[in-house]
Amino acid sequence: MNIVVTGGAGFIGSNFIFHLLKKYPEYRVICVDKLTYAGNLSTLAPIMNNPNFKFYKLDICDRENIYKMFEEEHPDVVVNFAAESHVDRSIEDPSIFLQTNIIGTSVLMDACRKYGNIRYHQVSTDEVYGDLPLDRPDLFFTEETPIHTSSPYSSSKAGADLLVQAYHRTFNLPTTISRCSNNYGPYQFPEKLIPLMIINCLNNKPLPVYGKGLNVRDWLYVEDHCKAIDLIIHKGKIGEIYNVGGHNEMTNIDIVKLIVNKLGKSEDLITYVTDRKGHDLRYAIDPTKISNELGWLPETKFKDGIEKTIDWYLNNKDWWEPIISGEYMNYYEKMYSNR
Ligand code: NAD
Ligand code: DAU
Repeated sequence: MNIVVTGGAGFIGSNFIFHLLKKYPEYRVICVDKLTYAGNLSTLAPIMNNPNFKFYKLDICDRENIYKMFEEEHPDVVVNFAAESHVDRSIEDPSIFLQTNIIGTSVLMDACRKYGNIRYHQVSTDEVYGDLPLDRPDLFFTEETPIHTSSPYSSSKAGADLLVQAYHRTFNLPTTISRCSNNYGPYQFPEKLIPLMIINCLNNKPLPVYGKGLNVRDWLYVEDHCKAIDLIIHKGKIGEIYNVGGHNEMTNIDIVKLIVNKLGKSEDLITYVTDRKGHDLRYAIDPTKISNELGWLPETKFKDGIEKTIDWYLNNKDWWEPIISGEYMNYYEKMYSNR
């Protein structure tokens, strides 16, 4: 089996590649990544010489070279993680989100059609459902929840999802979509809540909590997401959407306090800053469908996953220190100074 994984130098894509190479030593894994600010080749360094692994530095919007890659690699399955993924950046400048997340998805699916109706999986997000009110803990996102997006990021992901469904219905492309809640774990870029708070804590820097810190996210350890996608590409029903989440809702402030306390720092580091524009209040996934149909269940409890994650950042400074001393600092200054 030849599996093309796009966005494999990013957080979830790299974890997925490690999962595949370990579990299926007979598979060939082909990683396609443009290496944007969020892509990091050092993450993939340990597998670069693996004969079952190949890396292409390539933009998924680059039709000509994507087609060439398909001609060389003959993929059986394409799993598309490649995306601009950070909500705050999409608020600063939506355009690249539309380009990569929507146009890139269509180029990949056109290639799948052209080279033999290849199996295509789209890695989507629970953010396409918008948000839930904080005072209705009985409500959850199901696969039937209407799409109702808030940010340019989530709108671009929703646009891609609609295209995937259109390619399935109109062209009979064998597609599936997964919509997962917030992931955490090793190799997550430091702009996202959990690594940002761990790294700032370690550097005794202020911990910028948006608004009152009462927004709720539904956290899932990245390996559990990878296992869900593995199940979907092998056993999922063509044309279907699967929600993925572990019923692990927490407020942002509780997460930040937990990190502060685990690292033995002072809660005085917590700084409340101006809220994100259009900030979604609560995400909460109902994973009944994937549990009942594919037998998926989250395996890592949050208390274990967060410890593993904190330990990983403590033991892998050589991974994140070059990031926070480079271009990322300009981003950080722009987003957080005088906020
Ligand atoms: P990430 O930002 O860490 O990684 C994205 C990767 O895509 C990077 O390696 C980047 O270089 C690459 N990329 C960006 N534009 C590209 C292009 N035009 N061509 C080729 N490669 C390109 O993102 P992530 O957090 O790993 O998310 C991966 C996917 O999962 C995204 O589609 C995201 O929407 C989705 N998702 C993320 C989460 C989460 O909590 N992080 C939850 C649910 C779904
Ligand atoms: O739900 C899935 C989504 O989760 C994915 O589709 C996105 O790609 C991924 O980035 C993530 O989106 P969020 O916006 O939920 O994640 P983020 O880590 O940016 O923020 C989590 C919460 O923490 C959110 O309520 C905003 C808040 N926050 C974030 C940052 C970066 C802060 O309070 N301070 C911060 O500095």
